[in-house]
Amino acid sequence: MTENDFLPGDYQNLPEQGKVTWKAPSNIALVKYWGKRPVQMPANPSISFTLDACATTTSVSFEKKNTKDGFSFDLFFEGKPKDDFKPKIQTFLERIEMYLPFLKEYHFTIGTSNSFPHSSGIASSASGMAALSMCLMDIEKQLNPKLDDSLFFVKASYLARLGSGSACRSTKGNLVQWGAHQNIPNSSDLYGIEYPFEINPVFKSYCDTILLVHKGQKQVSSTVGHQLMHGHPYAENRFEQAFSNLDRLKPILADGNLEEFIELVESEALTLHAMMMTSMPYFMLMKPDTLEIINKIWEYREATKTPVCFTLDAGANVHLLYPEADKEKVQDFIKNELAEHCQNGQYIHDQVGLGAIKING
Ligand code: PMV
Repeated sequence: MTENDFLPGDYQNLPEQGKVTWKAPSNIALVKYWGKRPVQMPANPSISFTLDACATTTSVSFEKKNTKDGFSFDLFFEGKPKDDFKPKIQTFLERIEMYLPFLKEYHFTIGTSNSFPHSSGIASSASGMAALSMCLMDIEKQLNPKLDDSLFFVKASYLARLGSGSACRSTKGNLVQWGAHQNIPNSSDLYGIEYPFEINPVFKSYCDTILLVHKGQKQVSSTVGHQLMHGHPYAENRFEQAFSNLDRLKPILADGNLEEFIELVESEALTLHAMMMTSMPYFMLMKPDTLEIINKIWEYREATKTPVCFTLDAGANVHLLYPEADKEKVQDFIKNELAEHCQNGQYIHDQVGLGAIKING
């Protein structure tokens, strides 16, 4: 599909008012997206587990207005007005206006809340932009009831990407791939697709415990981090590596080869952070406790032969990944050994999930 496929058809209805609510999960990349071209096009393909418990729920109420000049919206986060989010939403609406021309016909009241603690360092932009995109597509569907279901989800992912790149991997589950790759049919830089190859059952219920190492503001935003891949001395090799890691992952995901899965996923996480440390200016998002946790995971894996591994996103928190079959003992290990490295002892148990859902009422 190309950009033109997302231009709208004719609207049959323009309801006076209405309200829609969607819940969209966060996701954690196994092969990382780091580096982009305008507008929100990835420098390399990526793949992620869609999560379940860590999610954003967004309601959009819409009411017909008299003028069509400019966007009109109010924004509430956890019930309170949130004006500092407004510029990001304004930019998002400007980017997607040509695909949703009804946006200037209505006044919108957007209410959003996260299932995870505020400023936990968990990227809420992925779940937030995915939930908002689902709501906007739901409104488009009311205007054009003929819109078919598969286009509905693909376009939602397309819009979410324009809000925050990795958000395009949060509309569907359980493994979503984003970025054109010659060996992955229907893969696209424009939107995420459900992973089209065999997935071993072990990965369909994989667990992810997010260890909240540092909850403060990040020292460098991911927007800046992506930009620093331009002119980065190792960028081209890194991008090639991501392409080949997606090829390597195919038999691993089919066979459930956890040893190779662990090696690939941990190498991806450390490579992401190596890119940060070798950019100019250089920066580091890991904290001493991030490293303490990684070392304890390695020791535990060596001693018990339990297939736990870690991954990282653009922050200090550690995602601990393990099969559901090992849940009990790994969660004991977390409580007894890793919680002490988390800020206020906080962590969140999550699991692979199925993607965005509509909330009725
Ligand atoms: O979607 P962004 O621009 O916040 O970038 C996300 C980048 C990583 O989380 C570090 C990797 C990824 O693929 O999710």
